[in-house]
Amino acid sequence: MDLFEKAARFRRADEFREAGLYPYFRAIDDSAEGTNVVIHGRRLVMAGSNNYLGLTHDARVKAAACEAIARFGSGCTGSRFLNGTLSIHVELEERLAAFFGKEACITSGTGYQTNVGALASLGGKSDVLFGDRDNHASLIDGARLAFARHLKYRHNDMADLERLLRETPLPDHGARLIVTDGVFSMLGDLCPLPEIVRLGRAYGARVLVDDAHGVGVLGEGGRGTCEHFGVLDQVDLIVGTFSKSFACLGGFVVGPRRVIDYIQHTSRSVIFSASMTPASVATVLKCLEIIQTEPERRQALWEKVRRMKRGFEELGFDLIEGGGPILSVVIGDEVATLEFNRLLLEQGVFVNPVLPPAAPPGMSLLRTSYMATHTDADLDRILEAFRAVNEQMRIVK
Ligand SMILES: Cc1ncc(COP(=O)(O)O)c(C=O)c1O
Repeated sequence: MDLFEKAARFRRADEFREAGLYPYFRAIDDSAEGTNVVIHGRRLVMAGSNNYLGLTHDARVKAAACEAIARFGSGCTGSRFLNGTLSIHVELEERLAAFFGKEACITSGTGYQTNVGALASLGGKSDVLFGDRDNHASLIDGARLAFARHLKYRHNDMADLERLLRETPLPDHGARLIVTDGVFSMLGDLCPLPEIVRLGRAYGARVLVDDAHGVGVLGEGGRGTCEHFGVLDQVDLIVGTFSKSFACLGGFVVGPRRVIDYIQHTSRSVIFSASMTPASVATVLKCLEIIQTEPERRQALWEKVRRMKRGFEELGFDLIEGGGPILSVVIGDEVATLEFNRLLLEQGVFVNPVLPPAAPPGMSLLRTSYMATHTDADLDRILEAFRAVNEQMRIVK
């Protein structure tokens, strides 16, 4: 058989295209990830971005990126390990470590790479990783690459996690690591972190939190889910991404100095991949400064999220109980979700349809997310679009 046979047989995307429902790889022509975007000449309200603090278009952030290009050039052309370390990489890592009250930090090209590299480095062959079943793909892939055994517990089910911790024998010289998203990326719900930390202590397991969607927005100072729950000092390793509140691209992990030193000398995604570009580093440094000095951005975001939650509830929609900047609206059926999404586009609103396996079976979602910079008019337009489409489709009666 020809290797490409599988591609010839792959029909799922074609089926969606033929039905006029295909929702992926939509090219944005203008204003990428601002509150409004232009697609095929039409202006849409963006309710599907992870630009939670609205910093991608901040003039100070853009100026910092341009200055870094002028000083350091457009790229590093090498990994942190060899020729790709700039003084601003070191500065960023020191500032991030201090921000989280941790000893050290190492950055990589993306959040995905950070998780893959850290888990593959830490999960040795006698070790056991305990991961939430709904963890982000990068954690799952990191666990696959690690030599460690990987056990999945039911989503946010602490009794199931405890059962696995209790019942799983540990090989000689083996150790345990619990791995969880802080805010789950598709459902938008938070992990029960205080209970995870308690179980970690009780069973001698270290805890790693991937807080891609929490850092910058949750917690009094924007330090994310760990700060929100008051357990920053009890979580061993925090991973984050720069592709959401930091308005850019890249990832980081913070934790004890010896552990970060180990990761930066053994993580293949740090060693064998080029470092963050100067513009990216400068963008993140400026965003970090803004996160630390402008708490009003977080307040603005939460006001918007609360307003939208009320709005959806008044319209009768079924929302996943969130707690983060994501509000996922349950539609149920896959085709109905895609059709709802198509009609929302016609109404001028961009959201993200989420189908199984990214959503639980029979629970296809429209994932909406908010920015500190959305205006009341933007939010009204989103709610009005949901109301109008529902009138056509009668998802909620
Ligand atoms: C929970 C979670 N972890 C990691 C990532 C990967 O981040 P990046 O976009 O920086 O690769 C994402 C992004 O989708 C995410 O949602």
